[in-house]
Amino acid sequence: MPRDSKTNHHAGTERSRPVLHQHAREIQPYGKITKLPIALDESTCAQSVENLNQILADTITLRDMYKKHHWQVAGHTFYQIHLLFDKHYEEQNELVDTIAERIQSLGGISIAMAADVAETTMIPRPPRGREELPVQLSRLLEAHEVILKEARTMAKEAASAGDDGTNDLLVSDVIRTNELQVWFLAEHLVDVPLVKAETSTPEKEAPKSKSASAR
Ligand SMILES: [Fe+2]
Repeated sequence: MPRDSKTNHHAGTERSRPVLHQHAREIQPYGKITKLPIALDESTCAQSVENLNQILADTITLRDMYKKHHWQVAGHTFYQIHLLFDKHYEEQNELVDTIAERIQSLGGISIAMAADVAETTMIPRPPRGREELPVQLSRLLEAHEVILKEARTMAKEAASAGDDGTNDLLVSDVIRTNELQVWFLAEHLVDVPLVKAETSTPEKEAPKSKSASAR
């Protein structure tokens, strides 16, 4: 056995050793556009990227609110709502990826981390604690409306700037998905009887006034 075998186990492994703790300057600062050959001018790309990052931050927030409510929901409709919230979560998650990759394909940088999302979103922060289902539904509906409102404005802006891809994404993906999810939520807030229909009572005839009967 070689004399130094105990003290030199790493000899010869230099090339397979991972290089850790590396730092360097960013290759693209946030907010700057890398020009790509997509036949759109830089200012159009910059405007679409800024709008899409707002939609992205709000979509990430709405997506995460669905998971929060999926975990925390309570009550006799637990199972169906638990599953519905997770379905909407998955659909919003797909939107997140579509929006983020659109931003990158315009030469921009997608917002990604929770702290940056929290600073950017327009959706009010829900409490950490658990809330009743009608409150959860109301919060989700209000968040959907924030997104729908801004998406419609941004879709028109993208169309008039000639950015058809962004317009299509906002209309076909963001607006249509959000509108459909709003319908599925809103129907849970219609106060109809669960088992026994309300019996309709015929309206009583209003007593005729003296002057009317005298005529
Ligand atoms: Fe789950």
